[in-house]
Amino acid sequence: MAQNPSRSQWAALLRRLDIWFILIVLALITIPHYAEAMQHPGFFLDFAARLGLDRHAFERILYLAPIVWAGFIAGWRGAVVTSIIALGCMLPRAIFISAHPRDAIFEASAVFIIGNVLSLSFASLRKERQYRLKLEATQYELMASEERYRELFSSAFDAIWVHDLNGDVIAANRASEKLTGYGMEELMQKNVKSLLSEDDRHLAGQVRRKLLAGEFVQQPYEQHLIKKDGSEAFVQLSTSLVLSDGKPVGFQHIARDITEQKRMQDNLRFYLQQVTRAQEEERKRISRELHDDTIQALVVLARRLDAIATDSKALDEDDHRRLEELREQANNIMQGVRRLSQDLRPAALDRLGLLPALEWLAAEVRDFSGIDVNVNVAGKERRFSEEVELLLFRIVQEALRNVWRHSQASEATISVEFGDNQTQIAISDDGKGFDVPQTIGDLTRTGKLGLAGIQERVQLLGGNLTAQSQPGKGTSITIKLPA
Ligand SMILES: Nc1ncnc2c1ncn2[C@@H]1O[C@H](COP(=O)(O)OP(=O)(O)OP(=O)(O)O)[C@@H](O)[C@H]1O
Ligand SMILES: [Mg+2]
Repeated sequence: MAQNPSRSQWAALLRRLDIWFILIVLALITIPHYAEAMQHPGFFLDFAARLGLDRHAFERILYLAPIVWAGFIAGWRGAVVTSIIALGCMLPRAIFISAHPRDAIFEASAVFIIGNVLSLSFASLRKERQYRLKLEATQYELMASEERYRELFSSAFDAIWVHDLNGDVIAANRASEKLTGYGMEELMQKNVKSLLSEDDRHLAGQVRRKLLAGEFVQQPYEQHLIKKDGSEAFVQLSTSLVLSDGKPVGFQHIARDITEQKRMQDNLRFYLQQVTRAQEEERKRISRELHDDTIQALVVLARRLDAIATDSKALDEDDHRRLEELREQANNIMQGVRRLSQDLRPAALDRLGLLPALEWLAAEVRDFSGIDVNVNVAGKERRFSEEVELLLFRIVQEALRNVWRHSQASEATISVEFGDNQTQIAISDDGKGFDVPQTIGDLTRTGKLGLAGIQERVQLLGGNLTAQSQPGKGTSITIKLPA
């Protein structure tokens, strides 16, 4: 059962040793108070008389002291308990012994009231003093934390600036000077609009509107900043509202300069693009050479073998059979080389585009592996540049190669979905699946380059890749591209 909090405070008071000590002092004071009545005037009253004090006044002061003391150390409860007991000690004498009982009762009650009033005043003084000390400590802590924040703000590696709702900069740190090339004084006179291009102003406006409306904003986001020398810095930004009394008064931005990183990424992308282009050129050249030279040579060879077989009458049965075998071998080699040439550079892709090339690829894998590969198309077909279609074809080709090499699937599907803002291509199978690693790039360490190659191509296209697979539950490789 929950204990009444007030009752437990009274109980706690009575458990205090210092209160009991005060009560003992009260009892000691009471002894001389009744001594006279017991025919023992004693030294106590002589002492008061020697100090020139009236006996009654001296006694009242003596009774007041413990009440005020208890009030001071234990609050109003202490004063009430002590004053009631003091009253209890004084009243019998006032009523039964005193020559002027009415005056004595009045004086005893006055001690009770004055004691309580005094102790209450002391208690409230003490409370106020504690409150003041606490306030000072809080103010000091606030100042210290403000100091820490200021230090963090000014020495932060990231550029941080704050502007009001009109865009006027009201605070900025040292990294902001470095990022923009403006000095602190110049920055404080700037409006953020002057640091942004037209497009970026639009983006910044959108972010601010959303934040003010309490809507979700994808953070961090990327933006250009125009520096003092007119060059552009690429920054990654996080923006938050600055509130005062719960009302928005400005925005705080934390920006990291990623110009160098972007440049390196662009260089890497350019390098990859060049490598991919060179690789495709090489494939095209080999494919054409196989088609124009090797296959033609094999055709001529097969025709000659035919001619020998039909023209030469001197050949016996055995020679004819051997010639027939040779012609068949030449045909097989021709088919193999033709497939290799097609694989290297599918003619359908150059002539008809991505979807017919995917149909051709599906038929090839079906013939070759026995897996039932289907192509599903949804939405209105959209054509991409030759280079993009080639990259997409290579992605599907590699994914299908994995299906027939690793999945043991009986069925696979290539789904192409043309949406309004994006195109999605998924290659899924009903095979044995596998544990997809957290980072696909890690596969390259064990010499597995296929999925990593798919990922690189997808990145070149500015899209994203998801690989979903579970042992025993098939695999699905999905790529999404901006339209
Ligand atoms: N459709 C799939 N079904 C089952 N396992 C798959 C499938 N696709 C990929 N895997 C697994 O993922 C691994 C990585 O595939 P990845 O294409 O990167 O390498 P690889 O095919 O082994 O070698 P490479 O493609 O370089 O010749 C494969 O070794 C295989 O274990
Ligand atoms: Mg592979």
